[in-house]
Amino acid sequence: MIRDVLRMGDPRLWLVSEPVKDFSSPELAELLQDMRDTMAHLSGAGLAAPQIGVPLRVVIFGVHANPRYPDVDEVPDTVLINPVITPVGNEIVEDWEGCLSIPDIRGRVPRVRSIKVSALDRTGSPIDITSHDFPARVIQHETDHLDGVLFFDR
Ligand code: NI
Repeated sequence: MIRDVLRMGDPRLWLVSEPVKDFSSPELAELLQDMRDTMAHLSGAGLAAPQIGVPLRVVIFGVHANPRYPDVDEVPDTVLINPVITPVGNEIVEDWEGCLSIPDIRGRVPRVRSIKVSALDRTGSPIDITSHDFPARVIQHETDHLDGVLFFDR
């Protein structure tokens, strides 16, 4: 189901979200479906659960042929639960970012260029990925939402 995305100014966007502990709940399955539906509806590259008012450490990201990001490589939709980011190297790059919670405004944000991410998938199995450049930027942006941080705060 497509859900409303909270806008900047809503205090729920500043909460620190809780880790997911129950991977078999129907609520988690419903949350993931709603996040996928909402992200696709808005042509977003990523969405974090607190953006639809659910304070859990869940993000989804994916890069497809997308009018918002025409020049980037495609990445399949990926769910990251309880993600932990570790920078790889210390190269910082600054680039434009948008956010579905801050419509029509983009800003230049410095981010680590390369990261490792340890997370759990929808079944609770560990996944480890290494990411660079735009997808790494999206993952950092979405994971920030889990700590109540918007790109304006960076
Ligand atoms: Ni955002």
